[in-house]
Amino acid sequence: MARGYRGYKYFEAIEKNAGLLGILTLIMVSIGGLAEITPIFMEAHAVKPALGVQPYSPLRLAGKDIYVREGCYLCHTQMIRALRAESERYGPYSTASESVYDRPHQWGSKRTGPDLARVGGKYSDEWQRVHLKDPRAVVPESNMPGYPWLSKALVDPDEVQTKMRVLRMLGDPYTDEDIAGARKAVAGHTEMEAIIAYLQGLGIDNVPQAEAPAGAKGAP
Ligand code: HEC
Repeated sequence: MARGYRGYKYFEAIEKNAGLLGILTLIMVSIGGLAEITPIFMEAHAVKPALGVQPYSPLRLAGKDIYVREGCYLCHTQMIRALRAESERYGPYSTASESVYDRPHQWGSKRTGPDLARVGGKYSDEWQRVHLKDPRAVVPESNMPGYPWLSKALVDPDEVQTKMRVLRMLGDPYTDEDIAGARKAVAGHTEMEAIIAYLQGLGIDNVPQAEAPAGAKGAP
């Protein structure tokens, strides 16, 4: 049948030339890929913070970076998926608008430990401190490593202030007063206090229900 089609001679030329076929295939796949990816990129830039989501306070910002430095994301996700079992266990599923001030985001993909997206307020500061120092002191079967050195190291005030300046350049709405007050806000605080402040705020400041109303519990 195809042989009877007059345009076939062009296809034949392409099919017999592997190099040309490869290049033309690449072009077609690229166009298809761009058509899929470009709108997603545009959308990502349009994501606005969820109701109540504020840029990190200086102490919590320091805590977030300690979380990254210590590799907590290697065992903990911060993304509750839109599945019933997930929201039954961890609370309303996560939305992109909750992570706009997370650079880099801490969604993660490995859950050796539980998701932490809404762990804020679940335990007392004291529980968090004991647990981070020696997890088995409060959860005997835990295989999480201890981080006792966090109680000894102090947060570097200059570093926090510089980070806030950089984040403002990237678009985070820190005011001059926020930045001016940053050094004082963290001075004398240990890394342990910073990471606990960070953990205790997870899922607290934001109001996920505004994004995912009533049906959130279990409804994808
Ligand atoms: C080797 C994997 C691993 C690493 C790394 C790890 N954790 Fe864990 N984490 C766990 C496991 C397993 C549990 C569950 C048992 C327990 O509560 O200790 C857990 C539990 C927790 C909990 C309690 C969560 C809940 O809902 O009960 C918090 C909070 C926590 N981890 C914070 C951290 C922080 C902060 C770091 C980094 C400083 C960290 N974890 C690093 C494995 C890990």
